[in-house]
Amino acid sequence: MKSNHSNIKKAKKYLDNNECIAVPTETVYGLAGNAYSDISVKKIFKLKKRPTNNPLIVHYYNLNGLNEDCIINKEFKKLYKKFSPGPITYVLKLKKNTKISKFVTNNKNTVAIRFPKHPLIRKLLKVLNYPLAAPSANISSKLSSVSPADVKEEFGKKLKYLLKGGRSSIGVESTIINLTNKISILRLGGLNVSKINKILKKKLLIKNKSKEKLSPGLFSLHYSPGIPLRMNAKKINKGEAFILIKKRKINSKDYFFLSKNNNLIKAAKNLYPLMRKIKNRGYKKIAVEKIPNIGIGQTINDRLKRASKY
Ligand code: TXA
Ligand code: MG
Repeated sequence: MKSNHSNIKKAKKYLDNNECIAVPTETVYGLAGNAYSDISVKKIFKLKKRPTNNPLIVHYYNLNGLNEDCIINKEFKKLYKKFSPGPITYVLKLKKNTKISKFVTNNKNTVAIRFPKHPLIRKLLKVLNYPLAAPSANISSKLSSVSPADVKEEFGKKLKYLLKGGRSSIGVESTIINLTNKISILRLGGLNVSKINKILKKKLLIKNKSKEKLSPGLFSLHYSPGIPLRMNAKKINKGEAFILIKKRKINSKDYFFLSKNNNLIKAAKNLYPLMRKIKNRGYKKIAVEKIPNIGIGQTINDRLKRASKY
């Protein structure tokens, strides 16, 4: 894969020069910069129009160097062994003499870290001398990007470089677990909480209400296609695009399907692109039928609920 090799080299050059670039991950695309560089990190916040009090996730290749940045514990070790690299983000205590830019964490004493699985970002992380701070590659509060085309739609020419890695295989963001103080889930995501519970042998609380303010990314309006959305719709109203979980034989251009046959994993993967498509077709409103609240269906419902705050 020669082209990949030269693209990684290009990506590294931009990053080494304190630029921020878009990178593929298995969950969603990220807007990445050197996590140790104030200049890079500030550029990320500016390009994304992100409030500076909303901290970023730091992405590592493996455990090398991690000890210098944060304090790991036994729960982290267990979960890392089972689920990383993959769609889980750990919130840990930050080390005092860490090299991570204070702009990443908004001066907090904790840091969110993740080990992405997409082969291209892994190749990139392997050749860098620093971890990558990366929020999702979208304008703040809007739909996340799951393909190179989405990233271009979000940032256009303002973006210096886009490392293309096809469509994100999971399509929703990582699950965030707080491993400091009382362990809890801060954001539902691509990894089912039941799997985490099984490894830790306890039933974790899901603390993803906006009042917590622990994860400001959980502010009520988020993941929004930029038009009103209503959930649990039984029928379509005039002017709406209607999203259904399962394909049906309906002869109307206003019906859109998340999966062929009720497959929640496929539905999660199609969720953001479908909402993007509907918005781009010029619809002014979206209705979504009831989505089963099991497994990754819980993550879909979480995102729809936040999108419906528009
Ligand atoms: O799948 C993902 O996690 C993607 C890919 C690119 O890795 N990233 C992502 O980043 O979704 P972002 O910035 O869109 O969402 C990060 C979330 C925010 O809700 C933020 O508030 C939370 O992580 N977060 C970051 N640092 C935190 C910390 N120290 N404590 C609690 N929450 C934190
Ligand atoms: Mg985001």
